[in-house]
Amino acid sequence: MGIGLRRYQNSATPSSSSSPSSSGPSLGANSTSTFTLPDWKLDTSTAYRISKGWNSSEPATTRVYNLTISEVTGWPDGYNRTLTVINGQFPGPLIEANMGDRLIVNVQNNGVNMTTMHFHGLYQNGTNFMDGTYQISQCGIPPGGSFTYNFTVPGQYGTYWYHSHYGTQYMDGVVGPFVIHSQEEDDLISAMYDYDQVVLISDWYHGLSQGYLADYLASGNEDTEPVPDNGLINGAAYFNCALTPGDSCYQQDANRTIFNFERDKTYRLRVINTGAFAEINFSVDEHPLTLVEGDGVLIQPTTLHKLAVAVAQRYSVLITTNITSTDNFWVRAELNEFCFAATNPVLVDPGITGVLTYTDKADSGAPPYSNSMTAETDSWGDVAADVLCLDLNNTSIEPMIPIQAPDATVFYRIDSSFQIGSYAIDLAYINGTSWKPASGTSVLNQAYEMLAPGLSSTVVDSNSTELLNKTGPLPLGVFGGNQDQYIINVPDYEVVDILINNLDDGDHPFHLHGYKFWVMGTGTGSFPYKEYGNFNTTNPMRRDTVGIQAYGWALLRFVADNPGLWPLHCHITWHLEAGLLMQFEVQPKMIAQFEPPAAWAQLCAA
Ligand code: C2O
Repeated sequence: MGIGLRRYQNSATPSSSSSPSSSGPSLGANSTSTFTLPDWKLDTSTAYRISKGWNSSEPATTRVYNLTISEVTGWPDGYNRTLTVINGQFPGPLIEANMGDRLIVNVQNNGVNMTTMHFHGLYQNGTNFMDGTYQISQCGIPPGGSFTYNFTVPGQYGTYWYHSHYGTQYMDGVVGPFVIHSQEEDDLISAMYDYDQVVLISDWYHGLSQGYLADYLASGNEDTEPVPDNGLINGAAYFNCALTPGDSCYQQDANRTIFNFERDKTYRLRVINTGAFAEINFSVDEHPLTLVEGDGVLIQPTTLHKLAVAVAQRYSVLITTNITSTDNFWVRAELNEFCFAATNPVLVDPGITGVLTYTDKADSGAPPYSNSMTAETDSWGDVAADVLCLDLNNTSIEPMIPIQAPDATVFYRIDSSFQIGSYAIDLAYINGTSWKPASGTSVLNQAYEMLAPGLSSTVVDSNSTELLNKTGPLPLGVFGGNQDQYIINVPDYEVVDILINNLDDGDHPFHLHGYKFWVMGTGTGSFPYKEYGNFNTTNPMRRDTVGIQAYGWALLRFVADNPGLWPLHCHITWHLEAGLLMQFEVQPKMIAQFEPPAAWAQLCAA
């Protein structure tokens, strides 16, 4: 540890600040815990602790966040690499608001690549142009440029996250949690817990994502995704540097995240899979998890030991710190290797760990907090469903506030597959179209110009455009001759059923922007058309990200009441970049009435 201490003394951070141990009462005089985090490392022990004193009933207000993107050198698990980070630190800061508030998020891009910021799971009703999706809802923010996201958050609360939606950039560090409070949520569950803590879990790669992407999409690679080198819990983990001899790796800094929790309290853990590829089984040794929220939907409390979290999903679980036999417990984020098509010799142990330590020790001789702390506890013995690559079964959970799924008024089916095309390059297709970022301006910029009267010389009468008259998938090339966009037009308010057939041997966490959908059903093999109409409509789980099994299907239902262009895509970054994305264009007449700021259109001129 001493070596790490010396190096940190060169940092600009005063050594007296941000000691994660300051809240622990049991530090001895010889404690080794008074270390200082490196500048680039966010102190998640304080930054991700949500105050129970937050006032969720105050009148709606405007909250301003400034997010500056840049590259730094950092070593989340000891392994030194270039990170793309927010405000100089990894992981990104917590954004908090009350339901109904206005958010002003100023993004300054001091990085070397384009960027955009997407607020995952937010409806953005009326502000589709603030959805932050590169070349779909906006043009990129160029290096040196900036953009202000300005939107309100009515009608939803719970646990969300935000991330770059430019290529694979979020894997390099551009991620953070986004929590919306509400009186309704407080009334229903706040009394159930004493403390509230964000826990990001993710897979982790030791190099910049663009390098892996080039290999993944190279000629001759048949959809063998890069296998992560490690995983992280709140931006930190152990790694054995001996596995990468010759590389720059700081063993003394390969430290797990430590959760200093008080005894006999109940903690809400907001678990967010901010990773790129791996489904993760989350657990805390000897502490059952009481599940109360998924993707911003409160759930009837249900107890389990291991929680399977697909990429981009969120869950809140409650744990009670009432074990008396010991003081230190493993917090586990087990990367599900059944999801991997290859092996990585560097990933010796996919069971990523952090440590839960009680601050008031039962054993007075127990060592105080230290950043090299370990635990002796055993994992829950349950065989999780991880001989498959599955997220939590949505039929096992039930929203606390019941909503009946209305009957669908339209039905669309998409087939998603991987196919080897020209130059032996394996790409992903949705109904025959492999997505690429639109060339020229973003699709929404193009749609807006086509639809909004008086905006450009190519304006057509919006009532007579092909866009408005189609009820099915649009022909390719509607937007400026672009062949890479598969867009389903939903002209009016409809209740949409979307059947996703996964014709691939991999699993896909599909995410729909701008909505929560009901998970009407999921399964393997072919969709049981004879059963269509018999699916449970009584309060099925609602969420924004759902795992679809290899050679499986999912039937999702949503009320198309939110105008705009909304991507539906696999959230595995490799698959997204291979083209596994389509878009819904909802209520184009309303798109014509959007009032985006001038800066939005100007991004396309940059
Ligand atoms: Cu987390 Cu397209 O988004």
